[in-house]
Amino acid sequence: MANDTAYLKVDGQEYELPIHKGTLGNPVIDVSAFQKAGYWTYDPGFKVTAPVESKITYINGEKGELLHRGYPIDQLADNAEYLEVCYALLHGDLPNAEQKADFYDKVLSHTGVHEQLRKFFEGFRRDAHPMAVMVGVVGALSAFYHDHLDVTDPKQRDITAIRLIAKIPTIAAMSYKYTKGEPFMYPRNDFNYAENFLYMMFATPADVDYKVDPVIARAMDKIFTLHADHEQNASTSTVRLTASTGANPYACIAAGIVALWGPSHGGANEAVLTMLDEIGSVDNVEEYMEKVKRKEVRLMGFGHRVYKNFDPRAKVMKETCDEVLGALGITDPKLELAMKLEKIALEDPYFVERNLYPNVDFYSGIILKAIGIPTSMFTVIFALARTAGWISHLLEMHSAPFNIGRPRQLYTGEVRSCIHKLKSP
Ligand code: ACO
Repeated sequence: MANDTAYLKVDGQEYELPIHKGTLGNPVIDVSAFQKAGYWTYDPGFKVTAPVESKITYINGEKGELLHRGYPIDQLADNAEYLEVCYALLHGDLPNAEQKADFYDKVLSHTGVHEQLRKFFEGFRRDAHPMAVMVGVVGALSAFYHDHLDVTDPKQRDITAIRLIAKIPTIAAMSYKYTKGEPFMYPRNDFNYAENFLYMMFATPADVDYKVDPVIARAMDKIFTLHADHEQNASTSTVRLTASTGANPYACIAAGIVALWGPSHGGANEAVLTMLDEIGSVDNVEEYMEKVKRKEVRLMGFGHRVYKNFDPRAKVMKETCDEVLGALGITDPKLELAMKLEKIALEDPYFVERNLYPNVDFYSGIILKAIGIPTSMFTVIFALARTAGWISHLLEMHSAPFNIGRPRQLYTGEVRSCIHKLKSP
């Protein structure tokens, strides 16, 4: 609905551009009339472009607000389980008791993968990065469920969403076991979602009675919840753009995993630990900060494109971080170094002036390290959790008419003729 109108005057002609207002957030100016005017909009990095209308997630970067289906993230993280949040993302609201039982039952009964899928792993070098394995194996799921790839059929889309949310932890744990050279552990459906993931990661055939620490399982579940969705970020936009071609959901999620891998996005939590390794000890922090200020390096796990005051997920994650470190009584020089870095960055005018606060990845990296997850698995865990968001956006997109995503460009290349060049000796 058009609530107001903006006017654009170009080449002496005035165009009326409808303004649409959502429930929350900035209104948007509908620029489709530009097509008639013979102009395109130019917005590198999509800083002010809203290519979709969505009801899933709302972010207010200035206020540090994040809502999923209208519920604040801190309320969800403290009171709901990750699978309940998944249900809300997929279906529009948190489940009632019956819906919850049915959804949990469906997810937990789909956690296994086809035995033949195990063979895919053998095609990778044993030291392959688990994200590389994830990209290949998740994409390969489309070869296993080719009878359910019709994205125009809501039933097939729904079962695919369940399969993805259920199988991703199994594939993630397998990608770790493979690089570790340990046998894959079959999922155990008597565990909850987070416990099952930890079991598949850390149990071995010699230790099938492996006990999952409830503090760790709860922290893991919170990490999943805090990473479940984040509006139209780079990986979600990649999934939507890929899905706009009609590509199958497994391939779209594999595309999302690729986009997430980059260090400016989901690769940041791994990059935080790599940076801590590079700094080495608390004695080198001051010197490293000087390098950051000279713009030779970036402080990984700090800053955010959208949150310019604080990241609401980081607040919950910091509390969880303190809880986990306290409960496990862990003292690690790397964690001490991280805390020193956080303290300096929060006080130093360079970071304060630029609103560079620790983001969710700074604390999640520290928690994951404390609970024994290897650094190379950090982004995999992010991908596991974000699959719910990606698939929810894909379903939302497919539930209404949409166009193939096709941005324009400002061409600044040459205009030439090759005839003379090719014919000259
Ligand atoms: N360390 C040091 N300086 C930084 C950092 C950082 N992490 N981030 C931004 N800056 C500085 C820039 O140099 C720039 O300084 P200037 O004004 O003197 O030129 C200013 O802050 C603004 O930076 P931009 O690049 O314009 O900020 P943008 O919003 O485009 O970048 C980004 C956001 C990519 C997340 C950036 O902060 C960054 O690279 N952070 C480190 C990587 C990271 O932690 N990513 C995880 C994001 S959260 C997630 O994906 C879940």
